[in-house]
Amino acid sequence: MKYSAPPYMNDVLPFPPVKDAWLHTARWRAVEATFREVCRRYGYREIRTPILEHTELFKRSIGEATDIVSKEMFTFETRGGKSLTMKPEGTAPAVRACLEHGLFSDHPVLKLYYVGQNFRYERGQKGRYRQHQQLGVEVFGAVDPAIDAEVIQLAMEFYRTIGITDQALKINSVGTPQSRAAFLEALRDYARPHLADYSQEGQQRFELNALRMLDTKDQGDLRLLENAPRLVDYLDDESKVHFEKLQSYLAEAGVAFEIDHRLVRGFDYYTRTAFEIVGTNLGAQSALGGGGRYDGLVEECGGPSTPGIGFGLGMERCMLVLDTLGIQLPVDDESPLAFIVTLGEEAKVRPAAVRLLAEIRAAGISADMDYRYKKFGQQARTADDLGARYLLVLGDGELDRGVVGLRNQTTKDQRDVPLTDIVSELQGIA
Ligand code: HAM
Repeated sequence: MKYSAPPYMNDVLPFPPVKDAWLHTARWRAVEATFREVCRRYGYREIRTPILEHTELFKRSIGEATDIVSKEMFTFETRGGKSLTMKPEGTAPAVRACLEHGLFSDHPVLKLYYVGQNFRYERGQKGRYRQHQQLGVEVFGAVDPAIDAEVIQLAMEFYRTIGITDQALKINSVGTPQSRAAFLEALRDYARPHLADYSQEGQQRFELNALRMLDTKDQGDLRLLENAPRLVDYLDDESKVHFEKLQSYLAEAGVAFEIDHRLVRGFDYYTRTAFEIVGTNLGAQSALGGGGRYDGLVEECGGPSTPGIGFGLGMERCMLVLDTLGIQLPVDDESPLAFIVTLGEEAKVRPAAVRLLAEIRAAGISADMDYRYKKFGQQARTADDLGARYLLVLGDGELDRGVVGLRNQTTKDQRDVPLTDIVSELQGIA
């Protein structure tokens, strides 16, 4: 039996893979570190929630008629007969955790971020996987559209910092559930006379979740929807002002955007602001990230009326774009500074090597030795493979003299350093 990873789930590897160079942990860490740093600058704190939640949480928050809940969740029954689901997104779990731990009452405005794995049983393709990672933020307790602008700005700043600069920001307002009801009626009235001409998916959405008709890639449906009613024309006064203010704040912050009247997003919880960041290099899976406001969600999950807004940015899509653009990331050097090679009488030099290695590492310096080979040449080759900058040559002769040979792998110069001084010598180099 030959095992492979489950379909559309990726391994991220310790060395750059030849084929998919973007699946390299050092690069992922660099991107995550940038995200964390931008979040820190904006005053966001990290939250971590379990991979599993009670299924009911997602049904209630995301909405039963959405694709995610109706078709895509990894749900199973526990031995105790409870239904649990691997989280398909991070917003509902964040809400649940904040409620459970009383964070809303202690912190009137709560600014959170997360780096988390999500699971959706999707039809896989490039950029769309069954396990994906999101870099996300959620803000609770603020209705001011300035916070909507801040959240968007944070996402754009993250992309700019890692070098993705040709992405487009699309915004829309989906209003309140009340204003949306009036819009949906108008949309259904518009579509009904020609319903038979819509794609099968369009017709299904008409029945189940008409708002999602707008989110189609079908060319025929797009043509039919050309003169469809627009959400902005059905907004209540407050939502209208909110949307206008958001636009002026974005302009104030120097963030370019375009209004996309068909932007609705795939969750029922959104109210007012909805946005998406679209990459130009991603083909069909063009959404780098997306988010929006969800002023009714906390209440829906059993909490006090608390506004919220956030986003999720797809890590895999981000890595794919960086790869396509050939952007080099400042990855940390994982090669050892020093590599001990031994030669001579094993019973004498190997214990000395183990002791020296422990001492060097305890001083905070990365060092290694070869556990397979005893021959000098083979050990030196391992050191080269790992990219060690210095060899520490430890032989019978060196031990007798109380020294170690310090060999610079670039210049190939070698000199003896007393064993008692080698740690401070390496500290000076590092
Ligand atoms: P979402 O649009 O479903 O939103 O996901 C956010 C981003 O995650 C997408 O734009 C995409 O880049 C990435 N993504 C989603 N599904 C996949 C997949 N199957 N494979 C690869 N990447 C994927 C949410 O999940 C909301 N919780 C965002 C949010 C936070 N809204 C408010 N707060």
